[in-house]
Amino acid sequence: LSTVDVDLSPVQVGQRITATWRGKPIFIDRRTRQEVAEARAADHSPTLIDPATDASRVKRQPWLVVIGICTHLGCVPLGQKPGDPRGPYGGYFCPCHGSIYDTAGRVRHGPAPKNLYLPPYEFRSDTKLRIG
Ligand code: FES
Repeated sequence: LSTVDVDLSPVQVGQRITATWRGKPIFIDRRTRQEVAEARAADHSPTLIDPATDASRVKRQPWLVVIGICTHLGCVPLGQKPGDPRGPYGGYFCPCHGSIYDTAGRVRHGPAPKNLYLPPYEFRSDTKLRIG
């Protein structure tokens, strides 16, 4: 399908869900206030490998929507399921070669060269997300 609609109404604060769009995992994260604060606090950190602000990566707070494919060699990072390792920045951890992403999906430790990519998406309402 070229577009996928996702009902966000059952997603709790702090919960992450995965949708599928064009065969790719789409990570959707209803971030906690703390996770948003941590992402914003790092907006100008010198440790950002691919600098970007949280606001430039998020269309509607607190929702982070990213393509769940590591920008190194294409593994699916961990962090979506409860109990998964998330790495020291609370985002995602790629088990293939150890790349670490933060709560804005920005790469903080390589070898990944780029932040997790953003899919095209829009909010149709407070609880309806359209990807694609
Ligand atoms: Fe993720 Fe290499 S594919 S670190």
